[in-house]
Amino acid sequence: MDELRTKYLEAIAAAADESALEELRVQAVGKKGEVSLKMRELGKMTPEERQVAGPALNALKTEITSALAAKKVALADAALDARLATEWLDVTLPARTRRVGSIHPISQVTEEVTAIFADMGFAVAEGPQIETDWYNFDALNIPGHHPARAEMDTFYTHRAERDDRPPHVLRTHTSPVQIRSMEKNGAPIRIICPGRVYRADYDQTHTPMFHQVEGLALGKDISMANLKWVLEEFFTAFFGTGVKTRFRASHFPFTEPSAEVDIQCSWEGGTVKVGEGDDWLEVLGSGMVHPNVLKAGGIDPDEYQGFAFGMGIDRLAMLKYGIPDLRAFFDSDLRWLRHYGFASLDQPTLHGGLNR
Ligand code: PHE
Repeated sequence: MDELRTKYLEAIAAAADESALEELRVQAVGKKGEVSLKMRELGKMTPEERQVAGPALNALKTEITSALAAKKVALADAALDARLATEWLDVTLPARTRRVGSIHPISQVTEEVTAIFADMGFAVAEGPQIETDWYNFDALNIPGHHPARAEMDTFYTHRAERDDRPPHVLRTHTSPVQIRSMEKNGAPIRIICPGRVYRADYDQTHTPMFHQVEGLALGKDISMANLKWVLEEFFTAFFGTGVKTRFRASHFPFTEPSAEVDIQCSWEGGTVKVGEGDDWLEVLGSGMVHPNVLKAGGIDPDEYQGFAFGMGIDRLAMLKYGIPDLRAFFDSDLRWLRHYGFASLDQPTLHGGLNR
């Protein structure tokens, strides 16, 4: 019995894995195991011998069984320790840095402008960037021979004489949305339309794609005085301070009378500053909507009248945030975008503030 005990306890202690342990269990205490066979011999013994051998064999069986169980637990612990060691992970390490994008000044200023006009009751309207020449020109009282078509440096998608489709252009201004809004909603109306426009032009203050916001207000007795108030109110809110404006008599085929509006600025030191100096930057064209335009939009000019304006969003952004060169807006230079961009979760609102 001592021999059996030594043999199995040593083998159990040396077992490398669970299957080795299982083999030992079968050999020792399985149905035909060595200990079990010994137990069967108890029947042949005298009662005296059995009284000694029985409990001893039982004790041996218990001892081997519990050694097997203990070794099984020890092997599982060791396996877990090994796995934990390979899967170890330092949760105190700093996280990977994530690059955060920024809002482009044009998007920022568009939001600011929209918030101000929305507060004055203007809804946002939209139209396509590829327009028919009817919406871009004819409906706006610019007939085919009119010099304004040439002056605008229009991009044509194709020439009329080359196929049967009506000529399409990249819209040269947001004014075609005036007509589309009149057709859709009739009068009275109060809308703005921010969006992209295109003209073949390129220098420090012109790019072939730029942004305008159109304004249109029609009613029974809307006048030039309302136009002036709305624009002055807008500039004060937008620049966050009183700003000198200059209304110059001008001409547009789609307004009568017409006025261009300039904003006081200085260009000292290569950056533009608004509200000082004695330079002016033209930021918009405006006037009372021409009766022919109302008619083209399906509105009776004897019943309704009103004003329209078209403002350069890029110019406003340059003025407000001191950005000297318009071309850089569209170069996608990351250094420029990081410098002039705005926090993406900090949208401009009237209650949260419009100036950054
Ligand atoms: N569409 C004109 C432009 O692009 C601006 C404008 C709009 C003028 C509305 C008068 C009325 O220059």
